[in-house]
Amino acid sequence: MRLGTSIVALSIRMEDKKRVLLFGASGTIGQAVAKALRDANHSLTCVLRAGSGSPQELAECAACEADLSNQESVLTAFESDEFDVVISCIASRSGIPDDAWAVDYQANSNILKAAKANGVRQFILLSAICVQKPGLAFQHAKLAFEKELQESGLTYSIVRPTAFFKSLSGQIERIKAGKPYLLFGDGELTRCKPISDRDLAQYILGCIEDPGRQDRILPIGGPGPAITPLEQGEILFELTGQTPRYRRIPPAMLDVIIAVLRLAGLISKRAAAKAEYAKIGRYYATESMLVWDEQAQRYDAAVTPEFGSDTLFDHYAELIRQP
Ligand SMILES: NC(=O)c1ccc[n+]([C@@H]2O[C@H](COP(=O)([O-])OP(=O)(O)OC[C@H]3O[C@@H](n4cnc5c(N)ncnc54)[C@H](OP(=O)(O)O)[C@@H]3O)[C@@H](O)[C@H]2O)c1
Repeated sequence: MRLGTSIVALSIRMEDKKRVLLFGASGTIGQAVAKALRDANHSLTCVLRAGSGSPQELAECAACEADLSNQESVLTAFESDEFDVVISCIASRSGIPDDAWAVDYQANSNILKAAKANGVRQFILLSAICVQKPGLAFQHAKLAFEKELQESGLTYSIVRPTAFFKSLSGQIERIKAGKPYLLFGDGELTRCKPISDRDLAQYILGCIEDPGRQDRILPIGGPGPAITPLEQGEILFELTGQTPRYRRIPPAMLDVIIAVLRLAGLISKRAAAKAEYAKIGRYYATESMLVWDEQAQRYDAAVTPEFGSDTLFDHYAELIRQP
């Protein structure tokens, strides 16, 4: 009886096991996805860019190198196996327009063409919730690729997460050093449902098998409720046993900086890049990472889906405990 049960379990495992080709495996979410795929016993091959070096997390994974700007090179990444699923976690590291279009659009487009040419049936894309209200170059580049993927004929999942823990942990060292917490406006201009790398990776993993997560755009947050920057500051002071101290920055100040850098950007590429960084900063200072209700013209926490169990505040506590 026991033997029979384990044979059935084994045959289910073998059938469920997919051959997955993962792009962007060296990134924050890419590494978490690689771990989740390995733990679930899928067969995993990671594609890295030449010379970028393989993080420790990927030490036990099959890996190959490719230049994602070159279609021929991308095709070679598919030669080692017949893959069932492609997962792309690549993203421009700078977000400046040229790089965003080269990576978030063109590199993904090259991967999609190679996947189709090699008979891959399923494509899972890590995108971002902010593309629903596009104002930045990288958001337009991501949207252009999302459209191409939707029209490709492949089974697709477009995962649009809310804020990552790493993006909300930048002020911990300031607070530990006794400095004030920086807030835009009153600290309640925006809200998000942060999601951990591990929970997001599990959600992406689930896209492989769950028909409810296929041929869809999937906005996804971590466990609620939605929180503001002010609440993030409050908890950091509480965890470090300090009296809250805030420095409030008017968002209009960013408008002035952007205008000056834009002007300078007419004659300097460096200033133009800085203007884009400032625009990115203003976007996140003023826009919530929640589902946007187009009709009501507001963000809606109630309809922003939640997944997982890791909370940002537990993550803060862990980081603060570390020496
Ligand atoms: N941060 C947030 O709060 C947040 C929230 C929602 C959604 N997102 C979205 O999540 C996505 C991934 O985020 P992440 O934090 O995991 O990104 P990340 O850590 O910056 O990783 C980016 C990955 O893309 C690869 N890549 C970049 N440029 C490349 C190129 N020219 N050729 C080949 N590979 C290249 C990187 O490879 P190398 O290691 O070789 O550079 C790396 O593997 C992004 O689309 C982002 O917009 C972020």
